[in-house]
This record gives sequence, C-alpha cells and structure tokens, in this order.
Amino acid sequence: MKTEVLIIGGGPSGLLLSQLLNKAGVATVVLERTTRERVLSRIRAGVLETGTVSLLKDAGIATRLEKEGLPHDGCYLSDDELMVHVNFYELTGKRVMVYGQTEVTTDLYSAQDDMGTTIIHEVEDVAIHELDQKTSFVEYTLEGQRKRIDCSYVVGCDGFHGVSRKTIPEDARVEFERVYPFGWLGVLSRTPPANHELIYANSSRGFALCSMRNENLSRYYIQVPMSDTVEQWSDEQFWTELKLRLPSETANNMVTGASIEKSIAPLRSFVSEPLRWGNLFLVGDAAHIVPPTGAKGLNLAVSDVYYLHQALIAAIKHDVQTDINAYSEKALSRIWKAMRFSWQMTTMLHQFDGEDSFAGQMRKASLSHLARSETARRDLAENYIGLPF
Ligand code: APR
Ligand code: PHB
Repeated sequence: MKTEVLIIGGGPSGLLLSQLLNKAGVATVVLERTTRERVLSRIRAGVLETGTVSLLKDAGIATRLEKEGLPHDGCYLSDDELMVHVNFYELTGKRVMVYGQTEVTTDLYSAQDDMGTTIIHEVEDVAIHELDQKTSFVEYTLEGQRKRIDCSYVVGCDGFHGVSRKTIPEDARVEFERVYPFGWLGVLSRTPPANHELIYANSSRGFALCSMRNENLSRYYIQVPMSDTVEQWSDEQFWTELKLRLPSETANNMVTGASIEKSIAPLRSFVSEPLRWGNLFLVGDAAHIVPPTGAKGLNLAVSDVYYLHQALIAAIKHDVQTDINAYSEKALSRIWKAMRFSWQMTTMLHQFDGEDSFAGQMRKASLSHLARSETARRDLAENYIGLPF
C-alpha cells in the first residue's frame, strides 16, 4: 500500500490532521493500536479554546459542538477565604467552549467515515523506516500478518507512550520533564453542575475542580497522593472531601449522586524537542504533556495540527518546503507558553507534600493579587482562552 501522509495514532490529533488533509485532497492512512470503542472510552478535559473551535469549524466537524457545547464567559478561582471571578469575555472579548474531548473524537470519527478515509485499527508492532530518504515506509502487524505502507511523510500522533518519538535517536532529542508529586482523582456523575462556571479551588486540604459536560453531567476532581487507589475512595468519601475543599456556599448547595466513572491520573509537564526528524513529525501528546490545570492538552494538540496541516499541504500540493522546515520551531514557541501557564496554574492551586509555610503564603498572595488586579486577571484570561496560533 502507498499513501502521502501516514499517521500513527487515531486519537484527536491523528483524526483531526487526517480530516484537514483529506479535505484538501491529501491522502492519508491512520494506524491505531486499539479499537474505536477503546479510543472513545477515554475521558479527558472538556474546555475548548476559541482557536480550537475555529479549526474544528474549518474541518467541518462543528455542527454538534455548536448545538450542544456550552459557551463559558469565565471561571472562578477560590481558596478558603476568596472566590475570584475571571471574566474572559470582558477581559479579552473571547469565550471558551465546554465540550468533552470524547465528543470531539466521536465527531471526528463520524466525519472520517463520511469522507471514507482509511483508519486501520488494532495494529501491532508499528515500526518506522528510512526517515532520511525521499520516501519512507511503516511496517505493522495486523491479524498476525506483517504489512508495509510507503509514504512521503510520517506523523506521530501516538500519544506519550507511542513509538514515534522513540524512533528519533536519543542523541538527537532533548527531553524536559517535571513530574508533580500528586494525582487527580476524577469522578463523573449524572448530577447538575455545582456552578454554571468552572471552579478551580485551592484549599488548605488540597486542590479541587468543579467542571461539567452538560446540564445534567458533572465532572469533579480532587488532588490525591499518587499512592492512593480508586478502591480507597467510596463515592461518599469523595463527595465529603470535595465539599471540604470548595467555598461553603457551593458545597452546601451542590447535588451529589452515584459516580459513573472514577479514575486517578498523574500530573506531568513534558516536552521533547525537536518535533521533526527527517520525514517524521510529532504532534500532540507524542511530543508534549501538560498537567490538566488549565485544560491545555487537547488545545495544544490542535495548534500543532493547525501548523502542520498547512505545512504539509504546502509541501505536497505546491512543493513549498518553508513551512515544514519551520514547523518544529513555530509549534514549540506556542507549546512552551502553554507549558508555563499549566505549570503556573498547577503551582498556584496545589499543595506540595513537605512544602514549607512560605509556599502556602505565596498561593494566598497570588489569589489575593488576582482578586484586586484586573491586569493579573487579564493575563490569566488571555492564556486560558488560548494564545493566538
Ligand atoms: N501504534 C498505533 N497507535 C498508537 C501507538 C502505536 N504504537 N501508541 C499509541 N497509539 C494510539 C493510542 O491508542 C491513542 O489512540 O495513539 C493515540 C494517541 O491518542 P492520545 O493519547 O489521545 O493523544 P493525542 O491524539 O495527541 O491527543 C491529545 O489527548 O491525552 C490527551 O491531554 C491530551 O487532550 C490531549 C489529547
Ligand atoms: C474537565 O472538565 O475534565 C476539565 C476541565 C478543566 C480542566 C481540567 C479538566 O482544567
């Protein structure tokens, strides 16, 4: 088999890239390790930046998003004393859209079906070859048989644990990493959201977040030690702890119910540079991870796709190489700014084990500064709604 762009990974990055390339008449094949059902069972953050929504519109997959997505004008940040509202719309003229990543991925799969693109599921042992030649090829195993696809470009959209990044020789890449000493215990429940906007809560008992999927589906998180297990947390214990970390008015009025999903996720900041090696390009979680405080993960993957789809179209359709040569530098410049924002939000809102009393005072002063300074709120808003592509 032969194609123009071989995409490894059928998560949101791979599917969106495939959608935009096929729309422009560039042929792709997507290789995905698992089933469509497994991809769609992952629950991830649900806040889309304005730029993300625009690109999804351009890709022709925003019909349901525009109907069912919840536009949010702002969010709250709280501690044991303050509850600060940051009004994105007043401060920047822009809103964010609350719409789950699972829904985005569902819409992408159905658009890809309509276009009749090739997505091959349950492939094993993907191996990338001849990245320094004019054409490259990728091998994989499907139902016990070894297969080969020749292509002009390979794009690694295969997440943090994928093969693409590791194909780049170790001495040709630099990795930057910070692992945070706690995780997020997340619960999904069929209950009305605690507030019409998101609440990021820093309390003396640790971080908590109130988020949502729709008017009867809520998503909550609390900071827990990474050594905790889901089994250790009954629904009742979760709700009790969550309420203790929220402003009392919110806690007293919130509706609780049975959890329909419960999981613990680690928090990590990670960047691997460069994003290009010969004919291979890295996109999304394959190249970078952010902690979820600030909901930048999917949005960053989408800005990578924005830069790369244009660059690949210019190279393939018009034989112009300038943009593919600039891809790594251009994408990394935006990635590092989102890294900084996610790290800062994480540091400002979480308790770190063994921290000194100074750290708590810094968090308190940060929130008090946000409460009093419009400039500080505008800075947060500008980053939250998403820096320009
Ligand atoms: N071969 C084929 N597919 C693979 C391989 C492999 N060796 N390794 C991983 N994959 C697939 C995974 O099964 C997954 O479906 O690649 C896909 C990667 O998807 P994601 O991890 O969702 O990464 P990405 O598409 O870049 O999405 C970024 O997802 O992880 C969140 O916070 C992140 O919201 C952000 C978004
Ligand atoms: C979520 O809704 O799952 C969510 C929202 C905002 C975040 C992280 C997760 O910062």
